[in-house]
Amino acid sequence: MEPKVNWARVEFESVARNLGFARVAAASWAAGLGFTLEELEDIKLAVSEAVSNCIVHAYPERPGRVLMMLSASDHAFTISVQDEGVGILDVLAARSPGVSSSPQRMGMGFTLMEALSESMDVTSSPGEGTKVVMSFTPGDQ
Ligand SMILES: Nc1ncnc2c1ncn2[C@@H]1O[C@H](COP(=O)(O)OP(=O)(O)O)[C@@H](O)[C@H]1O
Ligand SMILES: [Mg+2]
Repeated sequence: MEPKVNWARVEFESVARNLGFARVAAASWAAGLGFTLEELEDIKLAVSEAVSNCIVHAYPERPGRVLMMLSASDHAFTISVQDEGVGILDVLAARSPGVSSSPQRMGMGFTLMEALSESMDVTSSPGEGTKVVMSFTPGDQ
């Protein structure tokens, strides 16, 4: 019998080389939960933004750990992306459109993740790391 809640965890080094893997891993795990191809593309894009933040922002000194947890219940697919990096001082400000700590970036990552997911939650502690949780429901759009 199919379990009521199914889950998987994927852990990898915060290097650009692993971004494509993370996107595809998340989307292939979510495939079969009733999402359309377009919705799976949205999931890929949202995951991509969360993971690239771990790669670009979380570990300024050297690459570190990124943990992606996937879970599916009857109604929703939930993914969390977390790091043990520098953390974010002001989460509310960081989530605002156009806010970035690097001048060459757009600061639209969180805005995109929020728009693409059904819900998005960010928790972070300076010096301890950041966790982004997003959930998606098939047939949402
Ligand atoms: N995992 C993370 N670790 C540390 N800081 C982060 C992380 N994710 C986001 N941030 C901070 O939040 C800001 C906004 O993120 P985002 O909306 O993705 O824009 P961008 O990546 O273009 O700067 C980043 O500039 C960075 O300062
Ligand atoms: Mg970003």
